[in-house]
Amino acid sequence: MMCGITGTPGTGKTKVADELARRGNTVVHLITTIGPYVTGIDERRDTQIIDVDRWSAGFRKIDGFVEGHIAHLLPCDRIVVLRCRPDELRRRLQLRKYRKEKIDENAEAEALDVCLIETVERFDPSQILELDTTSQDASHCATLIDLFAKGEIPSAFGTIDWSGYLGAS
Ligand SMILES: Nc1ncnc2c1ncn2[C@@H]1O[C@H](COP(=O)(O)OP(=O)(O)OP(=O)(O)O)[C@@H](O)[C@H]1O
Ligand SMILES: [Mg+2]
Repeated sequence: MMCGITGTPGTGKTKVADELARRGNTVVHLITTIGPYVTGIDERRDTQIIDVDRWSAGFRKIDGFVEGHIAHLLPCDRIVVLRCRPDELRRRLQLRKYRKEKIDENAEAEALDVCLIETVERFDPSQILELDTTSQDASHCATLIDLFAKGEIPSAFGTIDWSGYLGAS
């Protein structure tokens, strides 16, 4: 059973995955797997360009959790989309010293449900859990994700609406 953990940068994927690893689960941080598939740098957006088709095709499935903002591009059995209210996401990214343009870009992507939409396009509704991390700590989120991966809590998504935060900064 491979369970993906995706979401906008700052939603808490790595923190929750570290907690799942601490509890004895196998966890792959996808950032560590992209090296051979980087084809260039997008200077304007300050991000690496990855050949995701080749990366995804070459990925050997694991029994455990895969975390990263491209986890939903892998053939996961279940997929969790972490969410964070855009004003709180901005706060988290400011603490990480992100540039203003990066903060704006990510807060906007979160308000527009980009990761959720990309996930809904690729998976059956029964495979998807959307989880709001705004005011739930990583330990509690890890417990819910673990239960979802085991099929002990049902899929759920589509109740979050952060369109009111669009254009805010
Ligand atoms: N559930 C949570 N509640 C409050 N703060 C959190 C929570 N999860 C993560 N954080 C904090 O938010 C910040 C970002 O967390 P983290 O690095 O796990 O995000 P990420 O989704 O892995 O981001 P990236 O895509 O850039 O790797 C960290 O400072 C972390 O401590
Ligand atoms: Mg991370």
